[in-house]
Amino acid sequence: MKILVIHGPNLNILEKRNSSLYGGKSLEEINKLIEAKAKDLDIEVEIFQSNFEGSIVEKIQASIDLEYDGIIINPAAFSHYSIAIRDAIEVLHIPVIEVHLSNIYGREDFRSKSVIAPVCSGQITGLGVYGYLVAMEAIKLLNK
Ligand code: DQA
Repeated sequence: MKILVIHGPNLNILEKRNSSLYGGKSLEEINKLIEAKAKDLDIEVEIFQSNFEGSIVEKIQASIDLEYDGIIINPAAFSHYSIAIRDAIEVLHIPVIEVHLSNIYGREDFRSKSVIAPVCSGQITGLGVYGYLVAMEAIKLLNK
């Protein structure tokens, strides 16, 4: 079983962002936790981060031929307006779970709308790094 984790813009500088919202961990630390959980669940994991919308679209498109069993995506700010990422996800036939570290429904109004969520299997928001770990368990269960 193989999953792809995609981190969107500004998540590469996570440790420099508001720690009360994002937990204070660096992306590298989060990725280590994801990799440890993957090992526990006996899942192979590939992790990708980009600040560029087109690179994320191309990564999603490339996943079509690579036989992943699921994708976990934190589209970050793109969640709120990227129809291009939404359209790329809509083509997929595998579980895709949208994850946010912070609770996007408890913040500014512009964050409470995700244009990506309707084409995902589900959304996990506000659980910090645990969101990624729970999403991995969910993908495993959804593939049973
Ligand atoms: C985020 C929430 C987004 O609104 C924001 O633009 C981010 C991070 C989160 O993980 O909580 O960059 O996706």
